[in-house]
Amino acid sequence: LMPFNFPLIMHYRTGVRGNQTIVSEFLLLGLPIQPELKAPCYVLFLAMYLTTVLGNMLIILLIHVDSHLHTPMYLFLSNLSFSDICFSSVTIPKLLVNMQSEKPAIPYPGCLAQMYFFLFFADLESFLLVAMAYDRYVAICYPLHYTVIMSPKLCSFLVVLSWVLTTFHALLHTLLMSRLSFCANNIIPHFFCDMSALLKLACSDTRPNELVIFVMGGLILVVPFLLIITSYAHIISSILKVPSVRGIRKAFSTCGSHLSVVSLFYGTVIGLYLCPSTNNSTVKETVMSIMYTVVTPMLNPFIYSLRNQDMKGAFRKLLAGRKLPFP
Ligand SMILES: *[C@@H]1O[C@H](CO)[C@@H](O)[C@H](O)[C@H]1NC(C)=O
Repeated sequence: LMPFNFPLIMHYRTGVRGNQTIVSEFLLLGLPIQPELKAPCYVLFLAMYLTTVLGNMLIILLIHVDSHLHTPMYLFLSNLSFSDICFSSVTIPKLLVNMQSEKPAIPYPGCLAQMYFFLFFADLESFLLVAMAYDRYVAICYPLHYTVIMSPKLCSFLVVLSWVLTTFHALLHTLLMSRLSFCANNIIPHFFCDMSALLKLACSDTRPNELVIFVMGGLILVVPFLLIITSYAHIISSILKVPSVRGIRKAFSTCGSHLSVVSLFYGTVIGLYLCPSTNNSTVKETVMSIMYTVVTPMLNPFIYSLRNQDMKGAFRKLLAGRKLPFP
């Protein structure tokens, strides 16, 4: 186990049940970086967080004010941006605070809450990516029926369904985690209350948790991933049936950006949760977590919008509208 190099550790354990001490607080060790790199890393993460929040807020604003962008694709994108803001706000502000504090502690209820919201917004992101892939599939494979199939009713239904499923999934894992007792070790070698890091610290039987993670992880990650891959496979085969330069360019400009987000997000999450490493590779896990907790939410607005003429048009209109005394 961890060497006891934290003199404060005794203060974090309170309450005695039987002959076990119960942990009331956890210590988040944070990022495995050298002390002299703390300040540049702090600035870097702060800048990335601000970019994420401002970039995604800009997308939500642009889509909200421009009525041309009130189409399913952009409404899903706006939902994805909202989810990105929340997802990065679950972990990064706490990381920034902990980097500055002497005592990087998080109380037990805070830790469970962080785990709940982390799972919630990660799942929501995953379901929204499926909805966006389905939307592109209908738009490219059934262009004449697009407005009939992707009705406002279906879009709202898909968004509500995502929220319901993700609520249940996050709640299930959080309730299972709250059953466990933590007694000896309260040091989390990570920068947030990650489910797998917490399981390693628990001193009760974690096999039910691991089984549920395996089964639900398969359903929640692999099924959406397969749906997305199927949808883009249909798109690509339908384009190759009637090849035209314009069609291919259009498909690559929208689907290429979608696919890069999808592979960035699912690649790291699946690698981390479904192929857990047996040896102690905390650094590798932390770097991969940073990829999908910090980098993906920051890149989404740029990947989806920068090469997109409609979004650029909306941005220009917004800037032009500000100069006029009336809209
Ligand atoms: C999310 O999507 C729904 C359904 O398309 C839409 O009505 C809603 O305005 C969107 N929410 C945000 C925050 O963009």
